[in-house]
Amino acid sequence: MHTDLLQVVKERRSVREFTNEPVSQIDIMNILEAGCWAPSVRNNQPWKFVVISDPGMRAILSEHSIYSTIISQCPVVIAVYLEDDKGTSSAMGNQAIGAAIQNMLLVAEDIGLGGVWLGDIQDCRDKINIELGIAEKYNLAAMLAIGYPAHRNQKSHRKHVNDFILKNIGG
Ligand SMILES: Cc1cc2nc3c(=O)[nH]c(=O)nc-3n(C[C@H](O)[C@H](O)[C@H](O)COP(=O)(O)O)c2cc1C
Repeated sequence: MHTDLLQVVKERRSVREFTNEPVSQIDIMNILEAGCWAPSVRNNQPWKFVVISDPGMRAILSEHSIYSTIISQCPVVIAVYLEDDKGTSSAMGNQAIGAAIQNMLLVAEDIGLGGVWLGDIQDCRDKINIELGIAEKYNLAAMLAIGYPAHRNQKSHRKHVNDFILKNIGG
């Protein structure tokens, strides 16, 4: 096993405060590429992305969200969409989207960036789609706020892995 990968997995925290430093296009493309290499049902790759670094658009989006501070202050927002007509159930599609988002957050962490998965943004999906000019067949799954962390004081905890094992048959 690549022990470094487990370290990245464990050190990733949800980052909600960012510096003003812009994120390079190369870093954004690497994050998107990480999303694209997620597993998906029959490899149907049901994700689409909208990258929003324009401060004016982030200001507009922030008006439609309970996360106005995060969205207006982070240097880049990535809206992650599930494409509706990919021939699988939305439950399967959403699992693939979750895998894509986690890949993206892990690569962001690995290259020194931070981010947060904003799922509650779904409550404002209609307004956001109008602002972004996105067709109805794309379902807004989440937005990721990405940038350089203002600090690394985020705390999180997990129960011990043994607490999650219902059975270990033959182990
Ligand atoms: C599906 C999903 C939706 C989430 N939605 C939000 C959200 O709307 N706002 C937010 O601040 N964090 C959101 N988060 C981040 C969680 O709050 C965070 O992952 C959790 O508290 C554990 O903290 P950690 O990521 O630092 O380990 C979401 C996470 C997931 C997986």
